[in-house]
Amino acid sequence: MISAGPAPLLRGGPPDERVRMKISIIGAGYVGLVTGVCLAHIGHEVICVDNDAPKVQKLRKGIIPIYEPGLAPLLTRLMKQQKLVFTTSIKEATRKSTVIFIAVGTPSKKSGEADLTYVENVAREIAVNMDSYKLIVEKSTVPTATGQRVERTIRLNLPKKFRARRGGELEFDVASNPEFLREGSAVEDFMNPDRIVIGVESKKAEQLLREVYKPLKATIVVTNINSAELIKHASNSFLATKISFANAVSRICDLVGADVLKVAEGMGYDKRIGRSFLNAGIGYGGSCFPKDVDAFIRLSEKSGYDFGLLKAVRQVNEEQKTHFVRLIEDKLWIIKNKTIGVLGLAFKPDTDDMRNAPAIDIIQALQHEGARIKAYDPQAMERAAGELPGVVMCKDPYAVARGCDCLLILTEWKEFKELNYRKVRESMRQAVIFDGRNLLADAAMRQLGFEYFGIGRGCLGTEGRRT
Ligand code: NAD
Ligand code: UGA
Repeated sequence: MISAGPAPLLRGGPPDERVRMKISIIGAGYVGLVTGVCLAHIGHEVICVDNDAPKVQKLRKGIIPIYEPGLAPLLTRLMKQQKLVFTTSIKEATRKSTVIFIAVGTPSKKSGEADLTYVENVAREIAVNMDSYKLIVEKSTVPTATGQRVERTIRLNLPKKFRARRGGELEFDVASNPEFLREGSAVEDFMNPDRIVIGVESKKAEQLLREVYKPLKATIVVTNINSAELIKHASNSFLATKISFANAVSRICDLVGADVLKVAEGMGYDKRIGRSFLNAGIGYGGSCFPKDVDAFIRLSEKSGYDFGLLKAVRQVNEEQKTHFVRLIEDKLWIIKNKTIGVLGLAFKPDTDDMRNAPAIDIIQALQHEGARIKAYDPQAMERAAGELPGVVMCKDPYAVARGCDCLLILTEWKEFKELNYRKVRESMRQAVIFDGRNLLADAAMRQLGFEYFGIGRGCLGTEGRRT
């Protein structure tokens, strides 16, 4: 993973000046900002647009509104070199570039369906400002057939002069180029992708996108737009399926006295299975898996297919959180007025993102039972404070542990592995750890005098049979 400092290396050596293109990214969030910075880093001239004016002002001063390892030094350097600029004007961005990426949010509606309002707004605004050929690329995660709707929106909103003149229609292309980066390792992932998926309907669009990504020397999968959009939903849903499978296995492990870590290791050596995304825990969270699984289920329903498998994946994921809370209730007995310490709030390590973090549901359930909650997260406390009223945010893990009846590990930050657990134990009222991420070595914790409970470590005995 990239920490601060050295710039990530390109597979093929330094950027090739000849491939420099003028590119705009609309939406400077977790994906848009990383995409903009990385495309500038590989040699392009990039304009990043966001309609959040205070965010753009901060970015212009080099202040990054998110925590993402490795992003800050790159951004500062590229801005100095004038390869990367920020604006609130889609008009300016559209006029000055040939390739325009849409990277705005696609949140869930109540029905689970993706809300494409932001995508439509941006497509319309690009269209009214078009004055020459443009390639409009969906970078946001969108359901299949969105490309056709974007194309239609653009056609309907082109400036009058281009619509009215016979044969004078403005040429443009729409393409899909889903993003597979993970938060916390976004720069590294973008610079070294397993593959780049390009969904296109014309040779010109394919050539332009090949040129954009040429310096990365990555495997490129070219397909039509519908398939590219589907690849993204299918990929995220498959990864979510692996996690839920591991979580379901972890429940059996607890019932029969097996260890899910060993089971995952034993399965993972099989190249057809692989070890990654088999970590059992309190379930997947974040801004994407829960939303994209919902959207894929909804898309399938609307298309006439009942995706029962994926519904079960979602159900297992929800159950992991309630199961964890019940385990705590089982061991602590009465929750009311107990003080519970929480290490980790973000939905995963190395990010400050609290969107759909499992910690939110777990903490709220315990608060509902009357628990007092103290917490620490290296990066997410500011964002978490708004989501979790009543939680006392502490300056470090030791302050969390002081006087607690138990400690929960909800995010596997590396620094939590390296704590002085003797000191932690001595300051706790009851030395009990519930490790929702299987971060710590169970035997070592027990040796230190803790009652230790992981997920699927086969240590619950008959009490663990309660679900
Ligand atoms: P985000 O909320 O962090 O960023 C979206 C940005 O778009 C915000 O800054 C918002 O102000 C801006 N925006 C909204 N409407 C706009 C408009 N009309 N003009 C200009 N800017 C506008 O979202 P994100 O996490 O970056 O996700 C963006 C998309 O990428 C989603 O579809 C998501 O599913 C997908 N995706 C996300 C990740 C990830 O790790 N976060 C990875 C792959 C794909
Ligand atoms: C995920 C995908 O990994 C990316 O490829 C994709 O681009 C992105 O979603 C997206 O579309 O937004 P991200 O959500 O950033 O990336 O993070 P992950 O590392 O995938 O973790 C997602 C959640 O699954 C986290 O809550 C994590 O704790 C959990 N997880 C992950 C597990 O519970 N077990 C695992 O084995 C792996």
